Amino acid sequence: MKNIAVIGSGTMGNGIAHVFAQHDYRVALIDINQDALDKALSTIEKNLDRQVDKGVINEQGKAKALQNIHTYTQMENGVYEADLVVEAATENVEIKLSIFRELDKICPDKTILASNTSSISITKIGAVTGRPGKVIGMHFMNPVPVMKLIEVIRGYATTDEVTDQVMDLSRKLGKSPVEVNDYPGFVANRILMPMINEAIYTYYEGVAGVEEIDTVMKLGMAHPMGPLQLADFIGLDVCLSILRVLHDGFGNPKYAPCPLLANMVEAGYKGAKSGEGFYKYT
Ligand code: CAA
Repeated sequence: MKNIAVIGSGTMGNGIAHVFAQHDYRVALIDINQDALDKALSTIEKNLDRQVDKGVINEQGKAKALQNIHTYTQMENGVYEADLVVEAATENVEIKLSIFRELDKICPDKTILASNTSSISITKIGAVTGRPGKVIGMHFMNPVPVMKLIEVIRGYATTDEVTDQVMDLSRKLGKSPVEVNDYPGFVANRILMPMINEAIYTYYEGVAGVEEIDTVMKLGMAHPMGPLQLADFIGLDVCLSILRVLHDGFGNPKYAPCPLLANMVEAGYKGAKSGEGFYKYT
């Protein structure tokens, strides 16, 4: 594999493009919005500078990574020779299904179609294409250049060969892939989101304050961020939507989102990206 197309240039998309380009893959970064692409390139450059400062890469490596990235606003221009497409668009089922229908039409037969979805069914995405055996989940973690995990999700029809190729490729990116099957929340969010939800319930019921809850988990369990800070970092709207997928998918009340979380999202308090969630961001 040499040519990688990344759909969506937000936080996850630019991180994914960064990591492929850093490992010498040719990357087509695709977004309908040219301003978003310009912003993504400047974010990637800033994050490459952080790696130069830390000695992870040198100036030459940074220049090569930037040269490896080409931007496109038309999907067909970016994917026509792709070996792999990684979709990292908005976490919305209808948007993802329509992107995969389109990708299936315009990509060569050889192209593997991956989604960075954090909770939408890979089986469902695969089923709207004529190549469900070549549809797979590649769930990167934020911040992508730093986090070692890629959760590789096999849909019901994903073939062994495609899974092995994606596991191999993930290792070539310096990541540690873990293969999981396609059930609601996969593994990462099935375990992470109930913890975050419980932290929100703990605050909602007045057991302790925001900072106290986060301090217990940081100092007591050696988590790098407390669950409420992590919820702000992920986005409270994203947390709510993943909890709803778990709740609907398993039909089990233990996954019901805390009413406080639903209220905060309704009021526009979505965490760091909106300026306020459990903490204020200036
Ligand atoms: N690009 C490149 N390097 C970056 C970076 C980026 N975007 N962001 C941070 N770094 C580097 C820094 O340069 C620094 O390098 P050194 O360790 O070599 O000094 C290192 O990462 C740590 O960064 P900082 O010193 O700025 O800050 P920190 O020590 O507080 O760590 C953190 C920041 C890595 C984000 C850490 O707080 C952390 O691990 N938090 C938890 C992250 C997490 O749980 N992510 C998963 C979220 S869930 C998800 O993504 C999936 C989902 O479906 C919801």
